[in-house]
Amino acid sequence: MAATTDIKQLRIATRNCGFIDPESLDDYIAVRGYEALAKALTMTPAEVVEIIKVAGLRGRGGGGFPTGVKWGIALSNAADQKYIVCNADEGDPGAFMDRAVLEGDPHSVVEAMAIGGYAIGATLGAVYIRAEYPLAIKRLRKAIDDARAMGLLGKNIFGSGFDFDIEIKYGAGAFVCGEETALIKSMEGHRGEPVSKPPFPAQSGYWAKPTIVNNVETFANVPAIIIKGADWFAGIGTATSKGTKVFALAGKIVNVGLIEVPMGTTLREVIFDIGGGCPDGKEFKAVQTGGPSGGALANKDLDVAIDYESLIARKSMMGSGGMVVMDEDDCMVSVAKFFLDFTMDETCGKCTPCRIGSKRLYEILDKITKGHGTKADLARLKSLSDSIKDTALCGLGQTMPNPILSTMDTFGHEYEAHVTQKKCPAHVCTAMLTYTINPAKCTGCTLCTKVCPVECISGTKKQPHVIDASKCIKCGACYDKCKFDSIIKM
Ligand SMILES: Cc1cc2nc3c(=O)[nH]c(=O)nc-3n(C[C@H](O)[C@H](O)[C@H](O)COP(=O)(O)O)c2cc1C
Ligand code: SF4
Ligand code: SF4
Ligand code: SF4
Repeated sequence: MAATTDIKQLRIATRNCGFIDPESLDDYIAVRGYEALAKALTMTPAEVVEIIKVAGLRGRGGGGFPTGVKWGIALSNAADQKYIVCNADEGDPGAFMDRAVLEGDPHSVVEAMAIGGYAIGATLGAVYIRAEYPLAIKRLRKAIDDARAMGLLGKNIFGSGFDFDIEIKYGAGAFVCGEETALIKSMEGHRGEPVSKPPFPAQSGYWAKPTIVNNVETFANVPAIIIKGADWFAGIGTATSKGTKVFALAGKIVNVGLIEVPMGTTLREVIFDIGGGCPDGKEFKAVQTGGPSGGALANKDLDVAIDYESLIARKSMMGSGGMVVMDEDDCMVSVAKFFLDFTMDETCGKCTPCRIGSKRLYEILDKITKGHGTKADLARLKSLSDSIKDTALCGLGQTMPNPILSTMDTFGHEYEAHVTQKKCPAHVCTAMLTYTINPAKCTGCTLCTKVCPVECISGTKKQPHVIDASKCIKCGACYDKCKFDSIIKM
C-alpha cells in the first residue's frame, strides 16, 4: 500500500492485507473470519440479499451494478443448479487490486462466495483467475483446501444443511475475458467472446443456469458488511456510492501503489495528499481513471468527489480502479493512442464496429501524431468514436473511444496544435520536433557531437555549433547532454 499517510485511507476490502498470514486459516479466524458466514446461515437467503441491498454495495469490477439487486434476481430465478463466480481476470494494465486481495486475504473471498452462494441458492462457485497470478492462485487454492478440511466448505456447512464448494478456472490473459459473458464462455471451454445481453448471466449464465459474476473486491466487502451491518457500510461514501474503493496509483506520481479510500474522496486528495503529486516538481496534467475504458480528468476535475456518477459525468468511469497520472511532459494525443493500441490489440473481433473501427481510429491518431493530420481527421475521430460507442456489441468496444473523446474534450487545443501548427505542445511526437542550437548560449564544448549517433552536429571547438536538420533523427541525445541549455527542442 502507498506509504505516506493513512489519514485519508479506510480499509474495508483490504482490511486484512498485510496484517494476517494469508496462508493461515487460524489467522483469518482470529480476525473474525467465517463469523459472517456463520451469521448469514442463521438468516434466510432473502434476508442476506436485503442486507447487501441496504448496504448499497455496488460492483467494483467496473459497471457499479448494485450487488444486492443482482443477487436478488438470481435468488428469484428458480433452477435446479445455480452458480456464483468470482471474476479475478483483472485485465486493466497497471491494475492489481484483485491480485493484492487474493494474495493478502484469500479467505475473505472464499467466505464471501459461500455467503453469496447461500443468498442466491448456489451450491457451486468458481474463481476465474488469470494464470499469470501464480502466488494468488497458490494462496487461493490453499485457502479453499483449508476451508474444506475445516468444514467451512463442502457438505452441511455449520450443520445448516447448506452445501457449497469452489473450483478454480484459469484465464489466459485476454482483456475481453474479464467481460462476464466472455468469461462464462471461456469457463465452458469455448472461445472467450462476449454474447449479447439479455439474457443476463443472473438469468442464464454458466451452462445456461442462473449465474452471479462478481469482482474480487466486491466479494471482499461482503463479510465486513454482514458482521458490521448494512447501516455501517451505507454510512460511508456518497449518496449513490457507498463504502470504499481500492485504487492502483501509477504513472507520474510519487507514491505508486494501492490505496483504499472512502467513496467521495476527491481526486486532489488521492493524487496530492496520498499520492504525493508528480515527481521532480513537474506539473500535474491529467489522470486516466477506468483503465483503457475510461477517460482523462484534468486540473478542473481535481475537486470532484470520486463516485460512479461523477466520473461518468466527466466522460470517464470508475472502472476497476486503475489511476494513471500524467504530467506536463505527456502528450494527450499520444496518451489516447497508447490506450487505443491496447484495446485494438484486445478486441475479440466478433463485431465490425470494434474490430474495424479500432483500426481506423488508430490510423487517424497515428497520422495526427506523425504530423499529417487535418481538421477533417478531428471530425472523423469524433464521429467514428460516437458510432463505435453506439454500435459495438460489448463493453470493450462501447468504451474503447472514451480516452479519445475525453482528451478531445479537455485537451482539444493539443489536437488542434498537432493538425494546424504541426506542433506537439508537450514535445513528445518526434515527427514534429526540431532540434536547433542557440548560438548565443553555445560554448562550443563539443559534448553534443560526441553523443550524436548520426554525426549531424558540426562546429569548431569553442565556437557555436549547428545541427543539420536534414540528417537529425531527433533522438534527443544532444539535448540531454548539453550542460549549457543551448539546445532548443520545439
Ligand atoms: C472488456 C471488459 C473487461 C472487464 N474486465 C473485468 C475484470 O477484469 N474484472 C472484473 O471484475 N470485471 C470486469 N469487467 C466487468 C464484468 O463484465 C462484470 O460486470 C463484473 O465482473 C461484475 O462484477 P461486479 O458487479 O462485482 O463488478 C469487464 C468488462 C468489460 C466490458
Ligand atoms: S465490442 Fe469488440 S470485444 Fe466486444 S464483442 Fe465486439 S469485437 Fe468483441
Ligand atoms: S553541448 Fe551544448 S554547449 Fe556544447 S557544443 Fe553542443 S550545444 Fe554547444
Ligand atoms: S537529436 Fe539526436 S540526431 Fe539530432 S542532432 Fe541531437 S543527437 Fe543528433
